[in-house]
Amino acid sequence: MKKKILVTGALGQLGQAVLEEFHNHYHVIGVDLHDNSPNYPIKYIPLDITDNKKVKQVIEKEQPDTILHLAAMTNVDGCEINPELAFKINVSAVETLCALTENRHFIHISSDYVFDGKNGPYSETDKVNPINVYGQNKLDSENIVKKYKGTWTILRTNVVFDYTKDSDASFVKWVVDSLKAGKPIRVVDDQWNNPTWTVSMARTLRLIVDREAGGLFNYSGRDWLHRLDFALLIADIFELNKDLISPISTADLKQAAKRPLKSGLITPLIEEKLGVTCDPLDDCLKEIKHRIESN
Ligand SMILES: NC(=O)c1ccc[n+]([C@@H]2O[C@H](COP(=O)([O-])OP(=O)(O)OC[C@H]3O[C@@H](n4cnc5c(N)ncnc54)[C@H](OP(=O)(O)O)[C@@H]3O)[C@@H](O)[C@H]2O)c1
Repeated sequence: MKKKILVTGALGQLGQAVLEEFHNHYHVIGVDLHDNSPNYPIKYIPLDITDNKKVKQVIEKEQPDTILHLAAMTNVDGCEINPELAFKINVSAVETLCALTENRHFIHISSDYVFDGKNGPYSETDKVNPINVYGQNKLDSENIVKKYKGTWTILRTNVVFDYTKDSDASFVKWVVDSLKAGKPIRVVDDQWNNPTWTVSMARTLRLIVDREAGGLFNYSGRDWLHRLDFALLIADIFELNKDLISPISTADLKQAAKRPLKSGLITPLIEEKLGVTCDPLDDCLKEIKHRIESN
């Protein structure tokens, strides 16, 4: 019998790739804030994960084997400006979901923002020290998930990207659309990460579901680079005008939340334990371009 998987945040950037990867293999129930159903033949239920009563009803009715928790308040500056709401969505809702789903497999997505970005990239055993509300939320929620009564998996990732029509959150989409429109953009040259394609991440999540692999793992793309170089690589692969891209420092952006600068993740643990590959960035971008052109 197919496993029954509850996917929260199913309409988000990662959620879309997960639905694509999962819908033929599992009995998927997707939940998210909005009424519009996804473009996949799955059961979809509009659900605010902070509505404890409705969450309880859905869990009791659906009885999932696995909970893949992707829903989050992901706007880092928004979390800094509204920390109460961020805590409610990113921490309290995780506590409720864990309490209501004991003795199953709970998979939680965390971030390299649990680190301060002084000496990344980081391994799973490096010391955490978040410097903004979102990072603190992610650390608090990790600590809740580690007490889950059942199998738990925490997958830390960073700078998740794709190019989907509906996503405002994607860096790739912003760069491609701006350059195509002839619009100059300024990109930080002091934030280092390993950008991670949603599709690679969804494949890894399927392996984790199939093997019920528990524990804390990093997963990211193979290449560690700063954001300006990421933008220049996007321009190269999409054959767009690089002269429209100029550098700026993070300090000059004057954002509400501090950013970990030298951040990112190292991934030998998951590569050895699960045999997954961390994909080269240029291959992922070429595949995205190919998919856009053949649509
Ligand atoms: N994106 C990254 O670079 C990155 C890096 C590291 C870790 N992560 C983590 O990966 C996971 C997936 O991220 P993503 O990139 O797919 O983010 P996303 O595109 O923002 O998706 C999150 C989804 O959760 C929904 N959501 C927000 N509040 C909710 C609520 N109260 N009830 C139900 N659903 C709610 C969002 O709806 P709205 O869009 O309407 O708010 C959105 O559809 C998150 O846990 C995120 O923290 C992301």
